[in-house]
Amino acid sequence: MELKNSYVHGYDLKENIRLQDQASTLVELLHSDTIYPAGSKILEAGCGVGAQTLTLARNSPEALFTSVDISEHSILTARLNAEAAGITNVRFDQGDIFHLPFEPNSFDHVFVCFVLEHLPLPVEALKILKSHLKIGGSMTVIEGDHGSAYFFPDSESAHKAISCQVELQKRSGGNANIGRELYPLLHEAGFGTIHVSPRLVYVDAGKPELVEGFTKKTFTAMIEGVRELALAAGLTDKNTFDKGIQDLYRTTEPDGVFCYTFFKAVAF
Ligand SMILES: C[S@@+](CC[C@H](N)C(=O)[O-])C[C@H]1O[C@@H](n2cnc3c(N)ncnc32)[C@H](O)[C@@H]1O
Repeated sequence: MELKNSYVHGYDLKENIRLQDQASTLVELLHSDTIYPAGSKILEAGCGVGAQTLTLARNSPEALFTSVDISEHSILTARLNAEAAGITNVRFDQGDIFHLPFEPNSFDHVFVCFVLEHLPLPVEALKILKSHLKIGGSMTVIEGDHGSAYFFPDSESAHKAISCQVELQKRSGGNANIGRELYPLLHEAGFGTIHVSPRLVYVDAGKPELVEGFTKKTFTAMIEGVRELALAAGLTDKNTFDKGIQDLYRTTEPDGVFCYTFFKAVAF
């Protein structure tokens, strides 16, 4: 799969820092109910630089993780991050979800976070990952949905800036609004029992760590990150885009509010 010159989060240093900020801000909300039993084997597909891996491995210290990513560079960084954090229950391998070198039915659980949103064929990816699961194993999928972003003060320019990111991701074959589709995607991939739980991030000035960690450093930083691509693609003009970003930052002032919903699915 050609990933260069297309929009995938995580392929530059600034993006890597953003993914780490996102992961540490959302640890409790997204991961507190993911605990794997001692000795179980888990495949994490699309681990990136290991931003979620560290939490997974810490929460289930006696489980054994195999974390793969198509990007060799991300895998090298993930390995270094895990070593620096003293994590010893994860093996990192470069690998493509569509060509994994593992035997069928070889994992007890599969975990995928913020990856399906980048894949042109998410159902096929889920089917392949399912084939690596043992009977009765679980598949956990976490995705965002940019259509769930609403805020005060509301701003047409901010919505337009967000729609640039959504459009660029679509042009790269992805779907930034995929969160709402987790149930139908997993159903189409053949999973029987599917439980989806929306995880709302609500941010106001009373939660300064979320103002910094989520609204500024995670969401707005991500939208800001597509500025040059959006302008080059002619999706917007400089003034409208910059006003949109300014208005997103405006929601972090003392009277501002920002809401976003992630979707977490566990299927069997
Ligand atoms: C937004 S990042 C998410 C990384 C990590 N899961 C996280 O939550 O921080 C998406 C990751 O999916 C990886 N990816 C995309 N297509 C892939 C494929 N076909 N096989 C394996 N990894 C893939 C990218 O290289 C990238 O690291």
